[in-house]
Amino acid sequence: MNYHNFNILHFEKIDSTNSKAMEMAVLGQLNDRGVILADEQNSGRGRLNRVWVSDKGNLYFSLLLRPKIAISNVSELSFVSISALSLVISEILPNSDIKLKWPNDLLVNGKKISGILLESKISAQNLDFVVIGIGVNLVSSPQNTLFPATNIKDYGALISNIEMLKKFLDKFEDLYQNYLEFGFKKARNIWLDKAYKLKEEISVKIDEQEIRGVFENIDEAGNLILRTKTGEKKINCADVGV
Ligand code: BTN
Repeated sequence: MNYHNFNILHFEKIDSTNSKAMEMAVLGQLNDRGVILADEQNSGRGRLNRVWVSDKGNLYFSLLLRPKIAISNVSELSFVSISALSLVISEILPNSDIKLKWPNDLLVNGKKISGILLESKISAQNLDFVVIGIGVNLVSSPQNTLFPATNIKDYGALISNIEMLKKFLDKFEDLYQNYLEFGFKKARNIWLDKAYKLKEEISVKIDEQEIRGVFENIDEAGNLILRTKTGEKKINCADVGV
């Protein structure tokens, strides 16, 4: 199925849309803006090697992009994507508090509704491709997770995975085009506008180490800037606590 400039391949059940997109991209079977959509995943993957529970009814997809950008800019694409998704969720749930938790969780009234797993392939110091995997809880959310989770239906809205994907692609198309032409500024501003705990004290867990400080900003590459007692720290991979 084609939608805007995207080509969507729809599967009933696969292991992981990210794994499938990576495999197909390596084999040259998936072009730029190819999308793998699955109704269910057997081995959905989250960040930091976590499992992403993938029961039928929620949205699971991965988008393949081959942008001509430097490797150091790749993580910006997760901010572009989650910012686009936040615009969609704000429209669907206009009375809810929508926040973006660094690096790329989307919270509705303080609970996680979506996550992004970005994976890329580099050849000879150049970016070959990026796979942006997104999960959105539409009708159910896992229990007993590290952070509390919620879903769209909890707030009385019903939307299918395909409709939600199309709404995402509508917003992403514009924001991604703007990113390619003008850089990270617009997406970064949308992100900062909805940032969770910006200018507040937060605790950041990196491996087993916990650091406290004030969440000052995100920099041009999307790193978290934390003001601690011992000075400013730039953080590029961690969990932010509550
Ligand atoms: C996270 O918050 O830890 C990221 C979750 C990413 C889940 C999505 S669902 C579609 C795609 N396929 C996967 O196996 N993972 C991502």
